[in-house]
Amino acid sequence: MDQDRWLAELTEFLRIPSISTLPVHDADCRRAAEWVARDLRRLGCREVSFLGSETHPVVWGVGPEVPGAPTLLIYGHYDVQPPDPLNEWTTPPFEPSVRDGRMYARGAADDKGQVFCLLRAMEASGTPPVNLRFMIEGEEEYGSRVLFDLLRREPERTRADVALVADMSYVAPGWPAVYTTLRGMCYAEITVRTAKHDLHSGEYGGAAPNAHEELCRLLTRLKSPDGRINIPGLYAAVKAPSARERALWKRLPFREKEFLTRRVQAKALTGLKGHSVFERLWALPTFEIHGITGGFTGVGAKTVIPAEATAKVSLRLVPNQKMKTVERQLAAAVKRLAPKYVTATVRFLHGADPAQVPIDHPAFQLLDRAFHDVVGRGIVAARAGGSIPVVPALGRQGAPVLLTGIGLPDDRLHAPDEKLDLQQLWDGVRVFQRFFELLARNGHGPV
Ligand code: BES
Ligand code: MN
Ligand code: MN
Repeated sequence: MDQDRWLAELTEFLRIPSISTLPVHDADCRRAAEWVARDLRRLGCREVSFLGSETHPVVWGVGPEVPGAPTLLIYGHYDVQPPDPLNEWTTPPFEPSVRDGRMYARGAADDKGQVFCLLRAMEASGTPPVNLRFMIEGEEEYGSRVLFDLLRREPERTRADVALVADMSYVAPGWPAVYTTLRGMCYAEITVRTAKHDLHSGEYGGAAPNAHEELCRLLTRLKSPDGRINIPGLYAAVKAPSARERALWKRLPFREKEFLTRRVQAKALTGLKGHSVFERLWALPTFEIHGITGGFTGVGAKTVIPAEATAKVSLRLVPNQKMKTVERQLAAAVKRLAPKYVTATVRFLHGADPAQVPIDHPAFQLLDRAFHDVVGRGIVAARAGGSIPVVPALGRQGAPVLLTGIGLPDDRLHAPDEKLDLQQLWDGVRVFQRFFELLARNGHGPV
């Protein structure tokens, strides 16, 4: 392994601020797509192309043909989340920096570092022993609309013997994992308008409605202090995890105290009483407020009664819930909970259905062996709290979808000082290289 060169190449990839949700970074997203395309070409891929050109393209590449060998579809994303708050980064998010064997940068773990790991696993293979297909998108962090449209038009793109997604982490250091569910998502803006325009808070205060006050009241009505979400019908489709699954979770290396003090680093955990942390993270829906805008937020003081306020919110959905149904339920709840004298509107930005993948296909045993051979422990089954919108669609042509990853739980995805441990990266290259070999040896056609 040519680690020095690879580090330089990863640094170059991470340096590109490919933030898909911010239009000022459109050109950067394009540069990141080009970086991936160039790399695929250099590694010997054919048909390297940009698919779905409306916004950020999906990069497609087909590895050298290996007659008779299985086809492995590799999915990942080159886009990243916004890096703010910038002052909380030890070194700037797009100036990748290695400290204590860790690469710090936005996208180091989610997901550029892991895409890079798969590309280098291909490189390390020399001539890959399986038919590789790459589908590396640029809108995962914004709902994957381009990829959804593409797969509706060209569903055969996902025809493969196995699909591999490395966009997650080990459950604990030394404990690689495979994930059986991902949560879905329903992202919306709730806007409250109380008057035609802002008003002087001295002239009108005491008699005029305040948009922020109304919005806050509405938001706190949507979720009780005990963690219950007050959206009629929301919990109807939610299925409790089986006793068997809960017993499996108890055996995972996890300590609630450590989760609170080392990872969350808050004073207490919150959420629905009577449910374990894993249930709350993996098997129950959430309602989060991401940010509130409107009114006066500049430096200094301005005495104004805001006429409009907007909150960005999202719900995470669990298996059996449907994004479309939840959209309707949220819109109806907002309408019902807002007082008559305010105008409350809901605008949906993006979303995803939850994913549930069976893990009984023989390919899972090969992934287990690959991890076992390289890092000394096989995969444990867990669920994930995050979302990858396209996962349900990836499996629609029959390929088993292997949800795994080489990151660690403390990688700080979407947060300041996101990092990837370099040892995880180098191990990951060998794990995936080994997985390709095992798949070639054990899988002729259907594995
Ligand atoms: N890689 C994450 C998803 C993830 C994180 C899965 C941790 C499991 C554990 C992915 O890049 C992500 O962040 N997705 C977004 C999707 C959303 C914007 C539709 C998410 O979960 O917020
Ligand atoms: Mn990701
Ligand atoms: Mn992400």
